[in-house]
Amino acid sequence: MLVLGIETTCDETAAAVVERQDGGRATILSNVVLSQIAEHAAFGGVVPEIAARAHVEALDLIIATAMADAGREFSALDGVAAAAGPGLIGGVIVGLTTAKAIAIVHEKPLIAVNHLEAHALTARLTDGISFPYCLFLASGGHTQIVAVRGVGDYVRLGTTRDDAIGEAFDKTAKLLGLGYPGGPRVEQEAAHGDRGRFLLPRPMIGRHDADFSLSGLKTALRLEAERIAPLSDQDVADLCASFQLAVVETVVDRLRQGLRIFRQRFGAPTALVAAGGVASNQAIRDAMLDVALQDQVALVIPPPSLCTDNAAMIAWAGAERLTHGLCDTLDTSPRARWPLDQVIKPIVVESAAPMETAPVAAEALATDPAGNEAAVPDSLPTDPSSTASSSTETSKTAEAPPSDAAPSDPAPSAIA
Ligand code: KG4
Ligand code: ZN
Repeated sequence: MLVLGIETTCDETAAAVVERQDGGRATILSNVVLSQIAEHAAFGGVVPEIAARAHVEALDLIIATAMADAGREFSALDGVAAAAGPGLIGGVIVGLTTAKAIAIVHEKPLIAVNHLEAHALTARLTDGISFPYCLFLASGGHTQIVAVRGVGDYVRLGTTRDDAIGEAFDKTAKLLGLGYPGGPRVEQEAAHGDRGRFLLPRPMIGRHDADFSLSGLKTALRLEAERIAPLSDQDVADLCASFQLAVVETVVDRLRQGLRIFRQRFGAPTALVAAGGVASNQAIRDAMLDVALQDQVALVIPPPSLCTDNAAMIAWAGAERLTHGLCDTLDTSPRARWPLDQVIKPIVVESAAPMETAPVAAEALATDPAGNEAAVPDSLPTDPSSTASSSTETSKTAEAPPSDAAPSDPAPSAIA
């Protein structure tokens, strides 16, 4: 199965072609990412209007490059997948509309992919792991611990009560004058700082839930910075190192709770998995290894280039959904908000045979004109004639056996 993926939800314009073999084995044939960092740097963060315009200008070339790198024609595709949200709505419209145009012209199924689901399934692209697994999803807008039980079957075990971890890194960087994007800059500074110099709070540590809270830590950091201002280069490095250590220790405690809750509710996970841009932070990756070793669970963290936003994960999520017979109609709406637990699940097929054809319109039926998810029910059948309306526990269809193969080339090519 050959799928073109398109990603435009934030500040990366990306396209990729991924092939999924029948056994679940994956090959990334191309993976092109154009970062908009230069356009946004002067503003200290992503400017939605600038992002949308940049996507319009770049996307056609990025897609053409991805197809050329893959050496395949549009006619060879089995589906066209685009991130349909959540994200900055202007960019989502650009990507989804482009995918619709390609789907119409080449008469291919459209798959409107939830960007968070794509992050959640990336470990199956890179490592072929099977369900269920415990996911730590940490990006600029989300911080969640999720039980991934099947395609479309996600149970949130913990979430942030205020800022996302990536957002806290970004705000810390801005406060300390490090610029945008914040996460990598804070990590670089932390590498030559004294992480024991400032004793910052570890919010939520010791609690029995698996939730996060970052705003108190952010405020504590600001107060320390104001107290010792003006800041020397070493002060900035020490603040970054102390902040990163507080985040790491919080993540470790929250993941232990998340794994405990996972086991209580669902039994042993096949793995502890990380996804999202924050998962490219080496200190967090190292800490997750300690958690996994102590908990005696396998650890799967995709390479940094597949943790940050990319289109290979969108193509792969499209292939996973298409394998289950899930695709979307051409009037599917883009969504600024789209919680992971509102993604449509495959329906159970009594014969246990995978569905060969697909298409339906579930999301288009369920979205309101503004593109928000308010009217989306928990689950909708893929076949409008189906009576499987109680399909909330239905994700165990046609699960492909895990593949032991890594993708051939997960490294993206960048266009400057
Ligand atoms: O998943 P992603 O690329 O985009 C979103 O969907 O948000 O994540 C971006 C976030 C940003 O907040 C960025 O600062 C953070 O991930 N990030 C990092 C690192 N690299 C990216 N945070 C900490 N350390 C890093 N090395
Ligand atoms: Zn993301």
